[in-house]
Amino acid sequence: MPGTSREGLKVAIVGHVDHGKSTLVGRLLHDTGSLPEGKVEAIREVCRRRGVEFEWAFLMDALQAERDQGITIDTSQIWIKSQSRDYVIIDAPGHKEFLKNMITGAAASDAALLVIDGAEGVKEQSRRHGYLLHLLGVRQIAVAVNKMDLVGFSQARFEEIEKEYRAYLIGVGVTPTHIVPISGRGGDNVVTQSVNMPWYKGPTVMGALERFKVVTQPEGLPLRMPVQDVYKFDHRRIIAGRIDSGVLKVGDRVLFSPSNKSARVASIEAWLVPGTPTEVRAGISTGFTLDEQIFVERGEIVSHEAQPPIESDVFRARLFWLGKTSLTVGSRYRLKLATAEAQVRVQAIEHVVDTGDLSTAASDKVERNAVAEVILQADRVLALDEFTSAPLSGRFVLVDGYDIAGGGIISMAGYADQRQALTVKSRNITWTEQAVSVEARARRNGHRGGVIWFTGLSGSGKSTLSSAVERRLFSLGYQVFVLDGDNMRHGLNSDLGFSPDERAENIRRVGEVAALMSRAGMVVLTAFISPYRSDRARARKAVGDSFHEVYVKADLATCERRDPKGLYRKARAGEIQEFTGISAPYEPPETAELVVDTAAMDVEQSVDAIVSYVREQFADRAAQAAGGKR
Ligand code: ADX
Repeated sequence: MPGTSREGLKVAIVGHVDHGKSTLVGRLLHDTGSLPEGKVEAIREVCRRRGVEFEWAFLMDALQAERDQGITIDTSQIWIKSQSRDYVIIDAPGHKEFLKNMITGAAASDAALLVIDGAEGVKEQSRRHGYLLHLLGVRQIAVAVNKMDLVGFSQARFEEIEKEYRAYLIGVGVTPTHIVPISGRGGDNVVTQSVNMPWYKGPTVMGALERFKVVTQPEGLPLRMPVQDVYKFDHRRIIAGRIDSGVLKVGDRVLFSPSNKSARVASIEAWLVPGTPTEVRAGISTGFTLDEQIFVERGEIVSHEAQPPIESDVFRARLFWLGKTSLTVGSRYRLKLATAEAQVRVQAIEHVVDTGDLSTAASDKVERNAVAEVILQADRVLALDEFTSAPLSGRFVLVDGYDIAGGGIISMAGYADQRQALTVKSRNITWTEQAVSVEARARRNGHRGGVIWFTGLSGSGKSTLSSAVERRLFSLGYQVFVLDGDNMRHGLNSDLGFSPDERAENIRRVGEVAALMSRAGMVVLTAFISPYRSDRARARKAVGDSFHEVYVKADLATCERRDPKGLYRKARAGEIQEFTGISAPYEPPETAELVVDTAAMDVEQSVDAIVSYVREQFADRAAQAAGGKR
């Protein structure tokens, strides 16, 4: 239990193999007296017999070899004792193991110690390590500049490296707690202050470790418990998992996402603790039962109703790529997020980040060991969080075949929480069938009802085309009506702005209205940017088979040149925030029923194309068969 067990402060040690990581750890073990009696002497003896010079790194190898018999773990964990507390030094051999452990939480570190070679200086690898730590949410980092003996314990050399690396780390959002000049081999500034570097006034490596804070269990954060498993005992179902953050109490109403089912906690079934607890806190693995039998499964996230996770099938990610093959737009991977799994597809690569100088550049692929900002589209709605508000449900790994190919953190910038669109709040409601059938209405109108859903950038021609098509169809005798973005926003949707969540709600309402009107027998033309695929897919679902998506295609440059309402100019001048195409996303349709390229076709041609499509698709076959009009 937290606070009572001998849990050590977890420190990840990170650095290039040749920079002296093992030597430093060997020294730390020895100089703090954390080694079993006679261990070093035994290794010295072996070296003497073999005629090789003793190295501190051999100690690590020996410890490693002992541990490797029996268990397979991806990182080796070494215990170091100080007077005040214990430390677990987590040594991850490579990026991949490191990512894997961070994601599974097996080695979530409180802090990290980065080792740099003082003779070589700051290399790409050291920068990448710093970046990766930041990406994984490790915020306490101390740096050891090793091999100072090889540069004559030069203060100038140290200061040069210190300045460069400090600036870099600050650039990625990490302020190093201490940067310590050391010689692992000589033990300088490892545990004891170096006599060779009297100019250095800061703490030793051990001193820097002693100054790390224990990252407090996030009990104050909203409740998050990914469901690990559901066990059936007799008639009871026990929902098991680890509480990532928050507190769970008997009697709480808990929500399961993304299934959106809820029930009350009837009992907490804690193993490892005596008695029956009435609450459990972050960091504890637990199980609980509910007051109702609801079907929930592994992968869902338990929260309180007031502070639920986000629900979305699309999100933005900062991704660290390790895959053997480059990541490209359209490629598919298996996503693992907390205990959930889903298939994802790379929808866009926003840019790649040069971890060396932190510059960004456009690219159509992400190479191994590169970092990029990408948009991922999942095949189903996921429960997730922004990394900054809930680290464990805000990060993920991508699996390609059987290999972990990348890991990253989630941001929802530009994307909506779709929860509202997925939730039915009312209870005790039943569906009533319409007294007049769809067929009867079609017979009277001489055509069927349905929706022509225009989507495209602002200025692409949605409003122009929809009203021209409306006029033409009306004169042909159709029951037709346009729902226009700007108009709807004056009335039904006047409470909505242009944030991702509000756009999603805008489109949800429009989809429902269009569905009703189409059921009433009308041909409904909708002219909304409707920038998100998920929202359009939901509108399609609300309407059913008679939904027809028309992509009004015009590239950004063309729309900006037209700028009929002068809005692009304002957006460029920073007077309008979150403007589609400039500072907010637009996801073009992939499977539109009709594409109208308004950059290549004039209005007349476009209207002809749409009208003939409507005549073809909305004909009332029964009436036609009976010799009806149209
Ligand atoms: S949607 O994104 O929610 O589908 P909608 O089609 O209703 O947008 O409204 C778009 C219209 O609102 C644009 O044609 C434009 O006239 C106006 N508008 C005002 N602010 C914005 C903005 N930030 N982004 C896009 N359109 C905006």
